[in-house]
Amino acid sequence: MLYRICDSYEIAEGHMTVFELNKKDILVGRKNSKLFACNNSCPHRGASLSKGQLEGENIVCYMHGYEYNIFDGSLVTMKSWKKESSWVEQSPEWRKSGQLILYRIFENERGVFIEVPKP
Ligand code: FES
Repeated sequence: MLYRICDSYEIAEGHMTVFELNKKDILVGRKNSKLFACNNSCPHRGASLSKGQLEGENIVCYMHGYEYNIFDGSLVTMKSWKKESSWVEQSPEWRKSGQLILYRIFENERGVFIEVPKP
């Protein structure tokens, strides 16, 4: 389903906000003048990505520092596993992460729209 979520000016450059659509929390933002929309739940262990930070075209999860590209959803780095990290080693299975779940988003003269599958 296609949803109009707001006016374009409400999503400022470098900012993010969460919308609830079809019982999903969707993180929406704008970076380098492009809109992005992804599941607000981190693919690693489900932390809220809205508490993370944008770094370039990536979002860094506040929980363990995993970094995902906001436009293609790929896992870019797992900062917490770098050698200089003081993070305690856990099982290799625990480290695994999928990719960000992305949603189609666009804007026109009528506002910003997201396509979200039915629940
Ligand atoms: S829950 Fe996001 S990096 Fe672990």
